[in-house]
Amino acid sequence: MNIVIFGAPGSGKGTQSEKIIDRYGLHHISTGELLRKHIAEGTKIGKVADEFISKGLLIPDQLMIDILADLFHNDATLIEKGVIFDGFPRTVPQAEALADLLKEFGTGVDAVVGLEVEEDELINRMLERGKTSGRADDNIDTIRKRLEVYHSQTSPLKDYYTERGQYRKIDGNRTVEEIFTDISKELDR
Ligand code: AP5
Ligand code: MG
Repeated sequence: MNIVIFGAPGSGKGTQSEKIIDRYGLHHISTGELLRKHIAEGTKIGKVADEFISKGLLIPDQLMIDILADLFHNDATLIEKGVIFDGFPRTVPQAEALADLLKEFGTGVDAVVGLEVEEDELINRMLERGKTSGRADDNIDTIRKRLEVYHSQTSPLKDYYTERGQYRKIDGNRTVEEIFTDISKELDR
């Protein structure tokens, strides 16, 4: 089973991914976490990523796609166990690249779980987290930019996956447990 967890910044992708992994034993690939690790380790990728992340912008598609392809070509257990993709794809070209990559291994995306949350709630959650997260992008100006980028570059994927019959809308304005109950129902189908 390969799942995409989809939603705006602060919608709960990371939080729900943890619960999905516990229950379904999938690999978690969070591209945001991966890039933050590169930044912390001061790698070449990290230096590029830092420029974009701190401004609330997406890193270039080709760089992101190459990072992901490398992961899959170096770890056969990803395909064996299945993956929950958190924060990827974020653009239509990334979605197309993901489909091609998975096809190479004889598999594909099984479902896209879309966490839909009110904008005020998203901002509150990220500001609250920003008090302790140390994330360079959890401040009001960068949060606004991230939301703008989400609306212009990422939200078109909702139509992309709806057209393919893969999008499962989840009301993400509720408690973590209520949301997870709904996600589990969708994934158990
Ligand atoms: P990324 O790390 O993916 O950040 P994001 O999408 O902006 O989302 P967040 O991680 O902030 O939120 P989340 O949806 O995971 O919510 P969470 O569970 O943490 O990406 C960061 C940057 O990396 C991007 O801006 C870009 O620059 C770059 N990048 C990453 N992927 C890329 C890609 N594919 N292509 C190009 N660039 C890429 O929850 C948020 C907060 O709310 C937490 O404090 C949590 O405890 C709380 N919370 C969660 N659920 C609830 C609830 N139900 N009720 C109340 N509080 C809740
Ligand atoms: Mg996250």
